[in-house]
Amino acid sequence: MNKIEPLAKSHDRDGFDCGSEPLNLFLMQTARQHMERGISRTFVLVDEAVSDPKPILGFFSLNICQIQSETLAPVEAKKLPRIVSGVRLGRLAVAKEHQRQGFGKVLLAAAMEKFMEIFNRAGGIGLFVDAKDQEAKRYYEQFGFVPMPSNELELFLPVKTIQDALAEKS
Ligand SMILES: CC(C)(COP(=O)(O)OP(=O)(O)OC[C@H]1O[C@@H](n2cnc3c(N)ncnc32)[C@H](O)[C@@H]1OP(=O)(O)O)[C@@H](O)C(=O)NCCC(=O)NCCS
Repeated sequence: MNKIEPLAKSHDRDGFDCGSEPLNLFLMQTARQHMERGISRTFVLVDEAVSDPKPILGFFSLNICQIQSETLAPVEAKKLPRIVSGVRLGRLAVAKEHQRQGFGKVLLAAAMEKFMEIFNRAGGIGLFVDAKDQEAKRYYEQFGFVPMPSNELELFLPVKTIQDALAEKS
């Protein structure tokens, strides 16, 4: 059975390949250091039935962020203070041999659930993501992410969209 858990030593970071070297390297070299120093949190999708070191089927990273509300679309920025907080989905990737099997969707839903845990304790206006290219942008858009007017490869998923998506799922 597949499970999402925080990245740990028991996971096979070196064996992961999503086809994007910067994302592979982040998982291999940086993600655990960032966890230890509180810079970001990385969560991995693994098959719990497989023995250690467990192959990583996919992963995502989250960190708290602050943004200037004027960088949002006017309709989103209305009545917000000048600086607001949110959660950045820093990375999202699925192992090459498991792409197009719905794992990206599963990871995204888990990121939304984790956003809601933060939202319920400390607030936040939504999830932000930097798409690495136009294809990644299209991938995020189908889940309701909207491009930021200042940079179309930076996208925003408002809290209302997250709540609606999770309500639909449950
Ligand atoms: C982008 C990525 C995370 C998607 O994960 P995935 O598990 O392959 O995607 P899913 O199977 O969950 O796809 C969900 C839907 O998105 C569509 N989709 C998948 N990859 C897509 C892409 N690259 N562009 C547009 N749509 C895509 C699928 O057709 C599917 O639609 P459906 O449910 O109607 O069939 C994965 O392909 C990946 O790791 N790519 C390399 C790294 C990367 O580009 N990361 C993006 C962060 S910048």
